[in-house]
Amino acid sequence: MAFARIMGTGSYLPDRVLTNEELSQSLDTTDDWIRSRSGILERRIAADDEFTCDLAEHAARRALENAGRSSADIDLIVVATTTPDQVFPSTACLLQARLQAKDCPAFDIQAVCAGFVYALDVVSKYIESGAAKCALVVGAETFSRILDWSDRSTCVLFGDGAGAMVVEASETPGIRSTHLHADGTYAHLLQVPVGVSTAHSALAQGKAYTEMHGSEVFRWAVKGLSEVVKEALEHNNMDQSDIDWLIPHQANVRIITATAKRAGLSMERVVVTLDRHGNTSAASIPLAFDEAVRDGRIQRDQNILLEGFGGGFTWGSVLLTF
Ligand code: COA
Repeated sequence: MAFARIMGTGSYLPDRVLTNEELSQSLDTTDDWIRSRSGILERRIAADDEFTCDLAEHAARRALENAGRSSADIDLIVVATTTPDQVFPSTACLLQARLQAKDCPAFDIQAVCAGFVYALDVVSKYIESGAAKCALVVGAETFSRILDWSDRSTCVLFGDGAGAMVVEASETPGIRSTHLHADGTYAHLLQVPVGVSTAHSALAQGKAYTEMHGSEVFRWAVKGLSEVVKEALEHNNMDQSDIDWLIPHQANVRIITATAKRAGLSMERVVVTLDRHGNTSAASIPLAFDEAVRDGRIQRDQNILLEGFGGGFTWGSVLLTF
């Protein structure tokens, strides 16, 4: 059986930087509140004529270049997104056309902020079974489009961006384990309560934005993420000293620190981009991964633990050797 190995990474952030200071001019908030409660200093916001597939395309092209591969090599495209350009076709199909990656399966995955972990799980299974040899996996979001910009409890936390990986069949590991979880009974704690099927309902008016019970989500995120760290280490017969880098979903620095502490990992071994990116949902893990590869922190043969948590609730981990 082949291993699924990351051959290259890429990412993209829109040019527009939105600082806490700027937000505090139109909202009843302060830089100090946002910084101290979340760890976020600024986030990127896509231009009016820039869409999720545009962000995905930039990140994908960078990942292909980094892997030394071309569109012709790709035989599977999976895009994790909560903010697709269109109802259909999927963003993965739109991306396939842009890249001219002909005749390969292409589909989106929707698991909100755990989307990239879900996508890697699926992609690794395609590769391990021999159904694909060279997959392009992307997390891309224009989350700013599903925020109520007058709701200070949510809009200050999110941002836009995209990250991508080229994952290939290899004789050496590779993705060592994936563990996914979901519990739909918590849907009401973090949601956009309106979708395609409900949009015409009278109840739906004005509700196409993210709603969140922040402190409850916080509590469940720390619990879920701590459990998946333990689960991944036990499954691989490893302990925290075997992990070179933890790359958590970037939602709140206090969630990240609490999870790292419970896992017994020092913050020096945790990649944090939240301060500059905010929460970019499905894009946050591949964005952080790519940043740490490009600045030289992540090296080949290191063990990396990815963990995601999002609306659903959905959560999970990927433990890999780079
Ligand atoms: N500026 C100033 N005050 C704000 C504010 C803002 N941007 N947003 C909320 N507040 C206020 C609240 O209205 C509340 O005021 P009150 O006590 O008068 O009612 C007060 O701050 C405290 O709110 P609380 O929700 O208790 O703060 P908190 O310490 O839990 O931090 C979050 C709030 C949202 C930062 C935190 O709960 C969180 O990060 N939760 C998880 C969110 C997350 O990760 N979501 C995505 C998961 S994928």
